[in-house]
Amino acid sequence: MSDPTPEPTTNTPPVVPKPRGQKPTPEEIEERRKLKKLQVLPEGISRKEWKRQQKRERWEESKEKYQEINREKKRLARQRKRIRLQEDEELRLAKRKPTKKIETDVKVIIDCDFDELMLDKEIVSLSNQLKHCYSIMRRATFNLPVTVTSFNKRLKDRFEESLSDYHLWVGNMEFTDKSLTEVGDINQMVYLTADTEEEITKLEPNHTYIIGGIVDKNRHKHLCYKKAKELGIKVARLPIGKYIEVNGRHVLVTSHVYELLCKLYETGGDWEQAFNKVLPPRKIRHKDDTPTVESESKEPESEEEPESDKEEA
Ligand SMILES: C[S@@+](CC[C@H](N)C(=O)[O-])C[C@H]1O[C@@H](n2cnc3c(N)ncnc32)[C@H](O)[C@@H]1O
Repeated sequence: MSDPTPEPTTNTPPVVPKPRGQKPTPEEIEERRKLKKLQVLPEGISRKEWKRQQKRERWEESKEKYQEINREKKRLARQRKRIRLQEDEELRLAKRKPTKKIETDVKVIIDCDFDELMLDKEIVSLSNQLKHCYSIMRRATFNLPVTVTSFNKRLKDRFEESLSDYHLWVGNMEFTDKSLTEVGDINQMVYLTADTEEEITKLEPNHTYIIGGIVDKNRHKHLCYKKAKELGIKVARLPIGKYIEVNGRHVLVTSHVYELLCKLYETGGDWEQAFNKVLPPRKIRHKDDTPTVESESKEPESEEEPESDKEEA
């Protein structure tokens, strides 16, 4: 197919468009005037139509560049918006945090050594949960420091891309690529897992409680239990059935477990109150509740995910 645009009949050099907003100099105006005089219109076409065609050609040539600039502008605008929102959130949290925290003799490790076992969207969910843990920690009256171990691979990439201000997070939340055995004495550790009959009654002084940093929708049963056993770390489950009845499995998401430990301090060691404060109402089954067919006959496929930890669109 031949080019529909007629070639100019003179060898006039192409007019280089000026960047927007810059006025041409008098010399350039004069130069353009001369060039215009030299231009001979192709036959059978009006000047207006010819101009229109040239404009279209110029657009086709610069279109990609223009779109690229636009995309970059939009990306920067999104980045600015994200930073603004993060700053607002920081400010909000800073306003709400108690002025002085009460020290405890308990620490928490969130063991994130399960990167390969998660789908991309689960990595996103876990990163949101860690962010949620940070805001819980900031608001809590008691100081329960958190170390996020094996923080590397896709989880770290996700933070660098979307929560990059985590470097500026203040307080007692530390991120390390070291494994949990490298950051403390395993004899003073308790790995929390729903897959054991051992039940904790209270938090022991000078102990570190480990929470599995994984979102697996229940695919990897006994994962943390087996890991703890291999490492020779004590295991314990939360006393869920003892103080509260729940719909579905007794497996909580990572951030709920951390929040529960914080609340346990705030309630003076009252598990029932702590569970009631942390678990979403739909998860709690009240004594006079008739169990739903679903909770009687079928275990939900996944642990309940806190609303606040769900991926924003
Ligand atoms: C979503 S669960 C992970 C489930 C995973 N399949 C596993 O093997 O533990 C996240 C973590 O929360 C803690 N957790 C959840 N429910 C618990 C319970 N009932 N008792 C003790 N710890 C629990 C565990 O540390 C667990 O690794």
